[in-house]
Amino acid sequence: MKLKLAVLLAGIALATAVPLHEPSRDNHGAQVLRVKVTDLADLTYFAYLQSRTTLDFWTEPRALGEIDIMVRRWDLPMLKAVLLHRKLQYSIHIADVHRHLADMKEKHLQARTRAGDARMSWDAYYNYDEINAWLDSLAADYPSIATVTDVGTSYEGRTMKLLKLSTGQAVHAIFTDGGMHAREWIAPATVTYFIQQLVAGDGVGLLDDVDFYFMPSINPDGYAYTFTEDRLWRKTRSPNPGSPCVGTDPNRNWSFHWMEGGASDMPCSEIYAGPEPFSEVEMRVVRDQLLVLRPRVYLTFHSYSQLWMYPWGYTTDLPDNWEDMHSLAIAAVAALTAVHGTQYEVGSSSNTSYIAAGGSDDWALSVGGSEYAYTIELRDQGQYGFELPENLIIPTAEETWEGFKLIAQFIGHY
Ligand code: ARG
Ligand code: ZN
Repeated sequence: MKLKLAVLLAGIALATAVPLHEPSRDNHGAQVLRVKVTDLADLTYFAYLQSRTTLDFWTEPRALGEIDIMVRRWDLPMLKAVLLHRKLQYSIHIADVHRHLADMKEKHLQARTRAGDARMSWDAYYNYDEINAWLDSLAADYPSIATVTDVGTSYEGRTMKLLKLSTGQAVHAIFTDGGMHAREWIAPATVTYFIQQLVAGDGVGLLDDVDFYFMPSINPDGYAYTFTEDRLWRKTRSPNPGSPCVGTDPNRNWSFHWMEGGASDMPCSEIYAGPEPFSEVEMRVVRDQLLVLRPRVYLTFHSYSQLWMYPWGYTTDLPDNWEDMHSLAIAAVAALTAVHGTQYEVGSSSNTSYIAAGGSDDWALSVGGSEYAYTIELRDQGQYGFELPENLIIPTAEETWEGFKLIAQFIGHY
């Protein structure tokens, strides 16, 4: 059996580690397996698979509990054998990813038709150009508080915009981004909702105390790609010389302790860290804004898992001010949970998830000089996963808005 496993593992390595041509992303017959991890050794093993294969971990190999892994057709027999061998229990969460995506696409189109195309309404998901056009419209509609600046260009040439909301009175700043991982659609939707609340007046008073900076969709090419080509794309869209695989994981690409753990040096991995820190132009654009603005608070929105995390991601050690970050996170989550009862877990990202170096939160807290840095994994816990239905955008955004507001109020006064 030991030998067989070695052969299986070698099989994975050969099939996926150094592909000669682009590994197919065909989702026909692909399944999402929900695996119950009860042993730390299994966790380590999955973290290894995540960095050495093209298996797509929809949730991180987290502390003991359940993880969701998307396994394409040709990898299924192998992975199921591995699970059997390791005596791991699992259930089939999605039986056919292709069919599932087709159903969801149909629902998405229906929601778009219902929402019409007059303006953003948060009962549909909007593409990159629509978000940019909306940002521009804010500068025109709220000229006394809103400023939109073109701060960079993505690899494929899309304009990256920074929105500043300010009355000119504030001392402190909060910088918020979303959409670093392309398929996590609820993140840009939630961040744009915050903006709407602030300009529409539900944040009255906040703008006197805090300047707000927003970049709702910081992986423009990847995000656009999820609308037109591949709903499950995660990384950037820059090619990798010498490899058939495209893209870098933008949240493994930041320079602080880059590639020190939980990241891959293989371009075909979903957690490929890139050839060097800040190889991705989109992350350089965000970095350069953070260096100029030096916001006291840095927030980056992802999905899914319902986690409110602070650094470090690269080590299980905690930052000096972790207690401050922890208690503010607890308060924000309490405000969030009060709205619809949605439960979040709070902790450092290496303790709530697995170690992952090269994240923007670690960089913001250290090099960027922010006092509070959070990565928030929004709804849900895998029931719908990345395909969070349109009717859950508003509930998700409005509860998160309460957490966001609490942080802004705190920063404004302390
Ligand atoms: N799921 C997120 C990711 O994979 C978690 C990031 C947490 N932060 C970190 N520095 N590891 O990017
Ligand atoms: Zn993410």
